[in-house]
Amino acid sequence: TGYFTYDPSYTSTGSCQSAITYIDGEAGVLMHRGYSIEDLATNCDFMEVAYLLLHGELPNPDQKYDLEHAITHHTMVHEQIHKFLEGFRRDAHPMAVMCGVVGALSAFYHDSLDINDPRHRMISSHRLIAKMPTIAAWAYKYSLGQPLMYPRNDLRYAENFLHMMFATPCDTYRINPVLARAMDRILILHADHEQNASTSTVRLAGSSGANPFACIAAGIASLWGPAHGGANEAVLNMLEEIGSPSRTNEFVKRAKDKDDPFRLMGFGHRVYKNYDPRAKIMSRTCHEVLEELGMQKDPLLEIALELEKIALEDEYFVEKKLYPNVDFYSGLIFKAMGIPTSMFTALFATARTVGWIAQWSEMVEDRDQRIGRPRQLYTGSTARPFVPMDQR
Ligand code: CMC
Repeated sequence: TGYFTYDPSYTSTGSCQSAITYIDGEAGVLMHRGYSIEDLATNCDFMEVAYLLLHGELPNPDQKYDLEHAITHHTMVHEQIHKFLEGFRRDAHPMAVMCGVVGALSAFYHDSLDINDPRHRMISSHRLIAKMPTIAAWAYKYSLGQPLMYPRNDLRYAENFLHMMFATPCDTYRINPVLARAMDRILILHADHEQNASTSTVRLAGSSGANPFACIAAGIASLWGPAHGGANEAVLNMLEEIGSPSRTNEFVKRAKDKDDPFRLMGFGHRVYKNYDPRAKIMSRTCHEVLEELGMQKDPLLEIALELEKIALEDEYFVEKKLYPNVDFYSGLIFKAMGIPTSMFTALFATARTVGWIAQWSEMVEDRDQRIGRPRQLYTGSTARPFVPMDQR
């Protein structure tokens, strides 16, 4: 009943109020709680940004210590999850494993599921942020058939993730500070992005009062698609398929062809009609990492640079305002670090968990929030007489 606006894909619907993230898509501006993404990515670490997103202010040293302490003391997952993991096929995609395992967390941590209790909400938030790297790294180790590595509480968030990915019981992973800093920065750049598809999914799931573990599992499912978080994996597959800078023109041509479903992955954005500010920082980080590893002549980087150059000058891309987005360079950095392509989106999910949970908490605290219930334009049959089975 009542009037509503038909807005497929929500291009002009503001679904909520939020004080967390601000985007000016025309100007290419992204801010969290009023701080520019450039300032945060340059001067903060991921835990500081997590505190900012969750609490609204940058932490002082004591507040940061408390958050880090809370997170590091929730990094282990229930031992039974180890067994749960073993139920998956070894070749399962890490995002499939993450959807399942994160959803199952509510079956393990039901002592913090009263969403009306702020202490429960905070414990669940800490648990999710702390356990995501463990679950992601375990999904990878499991696919390799290697022993699962337990978290190390003496390491920082990004370092601990690299440790769980690459150490083995017989070999420590030597942390390279440039790579650890790059990983931390990638986490910052992916931490939140206002009401994107996965965050809106988390909010919609949560609007019914569902528990945060279930809501974040829904967010992971939405993030998986190639139009969203799955794009970082798709970019790398595309660069490999292109194979040589001399073939970039051919693929740009295909991307412009209306009869060809191919799109340049890592280009375009629903909100940014300018260079994605995250992509600029990501490109810088990519160069830093490749230089550190002596890979400045990486053939995939050359293809990416060529592609970016062509696309930024090409009439089609200029006219449609299609610029590189956050996913364009992140895959190259991950690959250089030795992270397999199938893990890229799992890393995005790990970082975005902070934003998802901050947005979920904000929604639960918002007294105006009721269950989300979009309407539809009905296009089916008008009323007609029922036909019994023997007459059909
Ligand atoms: N390559 C070629 N053409 C494109 C591309 C592209 N990457 N992106 C958009 N277009 C064209 C599209 O064909 C359409 O043309 P026309 O107006 O003639 O029909 C026009 O640009 C507008 O595109 P749209 O699909 O209506 O725009 P959207 O806001 O619905 O989609 C998008 C945004 C990000 C899904 C899309 O740009 C895309 O598919 N990009 C490639 C995938 C990608 O990189 N995704 C990561 C997004 S950023 C991180 C994240 O969200 O996780």
